[in-house]
Amino acid sequence: MRTVVVFGSGGQLGLSISGILHETEFKSKWVLLSRQEADITDFDRLKKVFEELKPEVVVNCSAYTNVEMAEEDRASAFVVNGIGVKNLAFLCSVYSSHLVHVSTDYVFDGKKNVPYTEEDVPNPINWYGYTKWCGERFVLKNLENFTILRVSGLYSPWRKNFVKTMIRLAISRKVLRVVYDQIHSPISALLVAKEIIRTVENDIIPEGIYHLTTDGITSWYDFARKIIQFSGLKAEIEPIRTDEFPTKAQRPAYSVLSNRKWKEKTDARIMHWEEDLYNVLRMPEMWDNV
Ligand SMILES: NC(=O)c1ccc[n+]([C@@H]2O[C@H](COP(=O)([O-])OP(=O)(O)OC[C@H]3O[C@@H](n4cnc5c(N)ncnc54)[C@H](OP(=O)(O)O)[C@@H]3O)[C@@H](O)[C@H]2O)c1
Repeated sequence: MRTVVVFGSGGQLGLSISGILHETEFKSKWVLLSRQEADITDFDRLKKVFEELKPEVVVNCSAYTNVEMAEEDRASAFVVNGIGVKNLAFLCSVYSSHLVHVSTDYVFDGKKNVPYTEEDVPNPINWYGYTKWCGERFVLKNLENFTILRVSGLYSPWRKNFVKTMIRLAISRKVLRVVYDQIHSPISALLVAKEIIRTVENDIIPEGIYHLTTDGITSWYDFARKIIQFSGLKAEIEPIRTDEFPTKAQRPAYSVLSNRKWKEKTDARIMHWEEDLYNVLRMPEMWDNV
């Protein structure tokens, strides 16, 4: 039986993978490790994990994901998203493990107006995006056997994310102001988790860089409107421009990723972002701790 090791199992994606694995039996032995169990910046600890488990596949869900804080705490973001990934890539090359590394639409500058393909050259405009791009380059440099999966606007019933924030604010406020001039294709961590498990379990995970998002595109404003509508909440959503909501980190104006290559290569049936959102809002866990 082959072993798949998942790092960062306490995050949105890690918890989504864990939830699916609990539903049914799988062919591989999946080992889920949280930051407390295996910090990817601790090389000696990681080496012991690889020595002990000799994973055939490694899935990296761990990351420093606070885009705002990354602007100030630059070293911490780089250590996790850059050096931590370098550690994983190096050990995957030593142990001949296939690394599935999750990355982001924020590696792009958002200046295009048609979906970004895997051939487009990254040009991050904030520190988080830069550190994630460094992580990608460490993977490309150290490994031949890898999959970089770039996802966008992840949300789930767990941890902090845009959908949970909108619900929480809509319960306590009458009007929410949300930017309408940043366009992307959000995807739930549940859908990403399903795709990772489906392709790893069936041994069809393709090598190279892939974009995994839902179909359709939306602004944060339209996304917020759908969240409120599907939740049956009453708050009014007011569209604002990005310059009316100053943030430390600059955001790409257009970061839609083309999912065509992933669909063609893995035969995936990817749903529209509205259907994905609707399904996740129907999960009872979505309403815990809002
Ligand atoms: N969230 C988004 O909107 C978004 C968008 C595009 C791409 N992505 C990418 O998608 C992936 C999954 O994101 P997510 O939303 O699931 O992130 P998340 O909820 O923030 O989870 C990240 C996990 O990584 C863990 N972690 C942090 N530093 C670590 C370290 N040094 N060693 C081991 N684990 C560590 C965290 O531990 P703690 O539990 O201790 O915090 C947390 O459990 C990431 O690669 C992220 O860059 C996310």
